[in-house]
Amino acid sequence: MTQPKSVFIVLSAIAIAGCTSKKEEEAPVEEAVVVEEKVAVVAEEPLKPLPEMGKLNMEKIVLGRKLFHDTILSGDGTVACSTCHALDHGGAEPRKTSTGIRGQIGPINSPTVLNSSHNFVQFWDGRAKDLREQAEGPVANPIEMGATWEGVVKRLQGNDKYAAEFAALYKDGITKDNVTDAVAVYEEALITPSRFDEYLLGDQNAITAAEKKGYETFKDVGCTACHNGVLVGGGMFQKMGLVNDYFKDRGTELTEADLGRFNVSKNPAEKHFFKVPTLRNVELTSPYLHDGSRATLEETVRVMGKYQLGRDLTNAEVNSIVTFLKSLTGKLPDYARVTVR
Ligand code: HEC
Ligand code: HEC
Repeated sequence: MTQPKSVFIVLSAIAIAGCTSKKEEEAPVEEAVVVEEKVAVVAEEPLKPLPEMGKLNMEKIVLGRKLFHDTILSGDGTVACSTCHALDHGGAEPRKTSTGIRGQIGPINSPTVLNSSHNFVQFWDGRAKDLREQAEGPVANPIEMGATWEGVVKRLQGNDKYAAEFAALYKDGITKDNVTDAVAVYEEALITPSRFDEYLLGDQNAITAAEKKGYETFKDVGCTACHNGVLVGGGMFQKMGLVNDYFKDRGTELTEADLGRFNVSKNPAEKHFFKVPTLRNVELTSPYLHDGSRATLEETVRVMGKYQLGRDLTNAEVNSIVTFLKSLTGKLPDYARVTVR
């Protein structure tokens, strides 16, 4: 972030809190007015900028990063979290549905791990309440990493480097809870501020005129009813096929995974409900939807128009929205990537 912008954030924080500091009193009147207007604009928008990150625990991030990229967490040493959540694929995978150990094909497309700490719940069907609970799942899932936690803890304890690193950070050393904690701390740091955040924070020039137009289209046609807030999604469950029957038209057999939230709640009214996915970095995460059935963003936006809004979007509308969506592609912090191993 450039210097003037951080100053602006400080000023707006002061304006929001409503307190007066010496600095503000000394500022020329016009400048103070401009700041207030900008804050008002941000407050009215259905999309919100990523909040500032708190203090980072770098040691835990580095340990979590190592675990996330290490096949030691899988039963046969072939699969890591990053196998299905590739940082160079927007934190998701380039396959329709996941491939776990021994080439087993999973039932559903992997969502991105980037910015995932801001999801209101984890998984498409919301069956984990947070990242720590989520991280328990894939390790012991027979068709994902196919390990047992007992086995993983033993293997890690047998590794001198891991043993020393855990001992330095956790009183009780290597346990399941500490492994999932380190992984979650790393995931919490996978935050990707974009040009669109700068725009929301008041920099009118951070996005192009075409991207602004696309954002207006996105709002006008009704996408923000479901894709809103910090993640442009991630805040509610919604029915896939709210207005038109998506599954009937899809032409492939209904799977258990297609039932979505119903699998957790057993509430028939929640059949085909899914967590509305984040659209941050969506440019990078093809294929799309829980079933991985759409290869391009254009096609996916068209599907959304038809099945969620009952609208046949024109080519111009689709292209405009896609142009806007690309402004949500952010930048990972340098420490997110593994450089050794
Ligand atoms: C074999 C592929 C595979 C592996 C390995 C894997 N995941 Fe996933 N991950 C998925 C799939 C598929 C989903 C969606 C499953 C669902 O919603 O039912 C998912 C969901 C998630 C989510 C939820 C995101 C959201 O928006 O709800 C997070 C976070 C996550 N994985 C992190 C991890 C971590 C951490 C590891 C390693 C401990 C890991 N994954 C290993 C495929 C994988
Ligand atoms: C009624 C709520 C709702 C509305 C309105 C809506 N969406 Fe969605 N969107 C969802 C849900 C739910 C999913 C996940 C569906 C699935 O995977 O089967 C989704 C998925 C997506 C995806 C795929 C993301 C991924 O990672 O696979 C994109 C892109 C998307 N929506 C864009 C849009 C656009 C653009 C609009 C407006 C034209 C829109 N959505 C309107 C609820 C909605």
